[in-house]
Amino acid sequence: MIVTTKKLFEFAYGQYAIGAYNINNLEQTMGLFRGCIQSKAPFIIQISKGARSYTHKKMLEAMIRTADEVFPDAIFAVHLDHGDEETCYDCIKSGFYSSVMIDASHEPFEKNIEITSRVVAAAHAKGIVVEAELGQLGGVEEHVNVNEADAKLTDPDQAEEFVQRSGCDSLAVAIGTSHGAFKFSGAQAIRLDVLEKIQKALPGFPLVMHGSSSVPQDEVERINAAGGQLLGAKGVDADQFKHAAELGVTKINIDTDGRLVWTRVHREYFKAHPETFDFRPIGKEFMQAYADFIAAKNEKLGSAGRLDDIREQLKAS
Ligand code: G3H
Ligand code: 13P
Ligand code: ZN
Repeated sequence: MIVTTKKLFEFAYGQYAIGAYNINNLEQTMGLFRGCIQSKAPFIIQISKGARSYTHKKMLEAMIRTADEVFPDAIFAVHLDHGDEETCYDCIKSGFYSSVMIDASHEPFEKNIEITSRVVAAAHAKGIVVEAELGQLGGVEEHVNVNEADAKLTDPDQAEEFVQRSGCDSLAVAIGTSHGAFKFSGAQAIRLDVLEKIQKALPGFPLVMHGSSSVPQDEVERINAAGGQLLGAKGVDADQFKHAAELGVTKINIDTDGRLVWTRVHREYFKAHPETFDFRPIGKEFMQAYADFIAAKNEKLGSAGRLDDIREQLKAS
């Protein structure tokens, strides 16, 4: 069942975070739904601009609608990840998305507010909620490449003004994480001290943590043992997720870890079966591995085991 992102945030706030997982293809979609049913967790499906053009944006929509039928017990929202203004308007118009992210975080403060406010006006007119970003994460995204030195943590003193003036419904904060598989050139730590200050400035307001893949070392070692060359890859400590949730983080974005699962499964399989050229056996193996990965991640987020409760809350609301 597709529900509003707003509702999921209301249920989760202060207790657990909802996993927001990026999808690009059928195998990821199947693995994601299976993993969330397996762990009885609500979730957010994220679609990036790059994912929308990988095959066709309508292909992803059709896949998600079908998955909704195939997995009638699933409870989830559909979200545009890192949208620019034009893509936000396209998603709002489509009527399919529960929420959009306008990422104008690379713009100066006033310009970020100006752009975000325009998207908020268009989205709210259609009952869709908006995630905005203040501060700047390091790492690689499709349209921006920010090195760690240029990344800016969210200023807690600006956060309240930003939210009030832009009218956004949730805020992505930069608290030391970055996109991709090479996070933290120094100590591996989320800046929970900064998060705590942001929550004090915005009590009860849903916060979002991007760049939250854990980049498990055993996964990296297996990839490298099977011919990969991911040297120095490092991620977020997933044991910090529950603390972050208590400090107002309701959505945690994970994409890179899923790509690592894909890479590990495929590299190991083809190394062990050099004679093979059939995509179905390996596709099946990936879907199950991805489902297991998602289920384990939902345990770390605290979202596992919540579905029955949420169903009751939805009936009552
Ligand atoms: O933060 C970006 C997400 O990992 C999506 O990546 O733009 O390559 O689809 P993508
Ligand atoms: P990772 O690269 O850490 O998976 O972050 C994903 C993300 O923030 C998507 O918006
Ligand atoms: Zn992101």
